[in-house]
Amino acid sequence: MHLFMWFIISLWGAVAPQYHPVEDICTAKPRDIPVNPMCIYRNPEKKESEGLGLEQVKEKIPESTNPRVWELSKANTLFATEFYKYLADSKNDNENIFMSPLSISTAFAMTKLGACGNTLQQLMEVFRFDTISEKTSDQIHFFFAKLNCRLYKKANKSSELVSANRLFGEKSLTFNETYQNISEVVYGAKLWPLNFKEKPEQSRTLINEWIANKTENRITDVIPEGGIDDLTVLVLVNTIYFKGHWKSEFPAQNTKRDKFYRSNGQICATPMMYQENKFRHVSVPSDHVQVVELPYKGDDITMVLILPTMGTSLGEVERDLTPERLQSWLGSMKEILLSVYLPRFRIEDNFSLKEKLQHMGLVDLFSPEHAKLPVAEGRTDLYVSDAFHKAFLEVNEEGSEAAASTVVMISGRSFPMNKMIFNANRPFLLLIREVAINTIIFMGRISNPCP
Ligand SMILES: *[C@@H]1O[C@H](CO)[C@@H](O)[C@H](O)[C@H]1NC(C)=O
Ligand SMILES: *[C@@H]1O[C@H](CO)[C@@H](O)[C@H](O)[C@H]1NC(C)=O
Ligand SMILES: *[C@@H]1O[C@H](CO)[C@@H](O)[C@H](O)[C@H]1NC(C)=O
Ligand SMILES: *[C@@H]1O[C@H](CO)[C@@H](O)[C@H](O)[C@H]1NC(C)=O
Ligand SMILES: *[C@@H]1O[C@H](CO)[C@@H](O)[C@H](O)[C@H]1NC(C)=O
Repeated sequence: MHLFMWFIISLWGAVAPQYHPVEDICTAKPRDIPVNPMCIYRNPEKKESEGLGLEQVKEKIPESTNPRVWELSKANTLFATEFYKYLADSKNDNENIFMSPLSISTAFAMTKLGACGNTLQQLMEVFRFDTISEKTSDQIHFFFAKLNCRLYKKANKSSELVSANRLFGEKSLTFNETYQNISEVVYGAKLWPLNFKEKPEQSRTLINEWIANKTENRITDVIPEGGIDDLTVLVLVNTIYFKGHWKSEFPAQNTKRDKFYRSNGQICATPMMYQENKFRHVSVPSDHVQVVELPYKGDDITMVLILPTMGTSLGEVERDLTPERLQSWLGSMKEILLSVYLPRFRIEDNFSLKEKLQHMGLVDLFSPEHAKLPVAEGRTDLYVSDAFHKAFLEVNEEGSEAAASTVVMISGRSFPMNKMIFNANRPFLLLIREVAINTIIFMGRISNPCP
């Protein structure tokens, strides 16, 4: 089985902050990288012990994991579930959703590097960075860098998980050098000067091409026509690309065209994959869900499928979704022999983040009057005009697309007797996560897998 996934986010506006060249952020200590942004947010209410992770949720922090990195990962999960709900609300129940909350958090953390005042405070609150037990905002970037090291720099990983960041700036402006340096060291995002003023369309094409290059051409045309104009000053881009092979493949000869029951009552036909194997699984009757985890080779990244029990709509499960609930499901899974039916599908999703984030309270950043982003010399008028996200997911058994289009009909499939069945023949939720540090890399719902 291959799973291909791409994803992207870009946004503009601005950013800024301070440091010294460092060889490798992954081995660096905080004192090696004085990440002193232009502005620091201090939460006056907060006591040292009020972290999100350590006290409230009794969990063992994995060995060799910085507790603050663990908390950052939790903050990202909190943002992911909250953002997902806003996204689900804005879409019809019959529409698929697919996105990378990690990419969104990363892109806005980069933006935070240059933010001050209320703009900074709202970024801290909406992205839940304020739940990390540090009184100030400045260390978030260092923890982000460490989180990225954990996620992307694994030796011997069998799945491919690659992230790239970049800043594209109007060439006639002088961007704060400290800001540029930190951005490069912490996020690997070097500044690429472009002529937005005179050649906005050409600049847009170049940025879209850069994104396509970083995502094996799976994500193209992220920035729509007119997305860049002569007022654009800075564009921040984050991309995440993942390709994994199931640890236990779905045998191609098991795939059979079958019915998928959509939430609007329609029934569509989709190639349904099947395998029987040992997987971590839990049924939670009180929450009306069944959860299974399908690992990729290497066991470090998995796909988690959350299927409402028959008679419960996915909408009900979405409404009640919280990080605590998710964590309790993940924590109570047990390995059992399971019959798994999963559609083979390919989905793509794209949306502007602006409106959703504004609803969540990120207001000043997008406001020409109120944004505080002093990243370029002599410019006090910078703000984020828009932010785009695009993601792509393909799930199949194994091998090429040509093989995947061959559907072998097996007649007389009967459900195995006395065996636990996970039959994703109706809308379900999907997460792709890194297990050790429990980070949600991608998240979505499959409401219509049919070709
Ligand atoms: C760049 O930002 C830093 C704070 O991060 C500030 O100390 C410095 O003065 C700024 N440089 C310029 C040239 O404005
Ligand atoms: C990486 O994989 C190779 C071959 O599979 C193995 O010999 C080596 O010990 C592994 N290294 C680590 C650090 O796991
Ligand atoms: C930024 O990095 C460059 C190259 O490493 C260095 O020469 C310069 O002094 C740095 N500037 C600041 C403000 O840290
Ligand atoms: C994309 O990749 C092609 C081929 O490697 C290269 O020629 C081109 O310059 C790249 N474009 C960007 C914007 O990085
Ligand atoms: C984004 O999605 C919409 C449907 O939601 C589609 O019409 C549009 O073509 C997509 N845009 C891009 C650039 O893929």
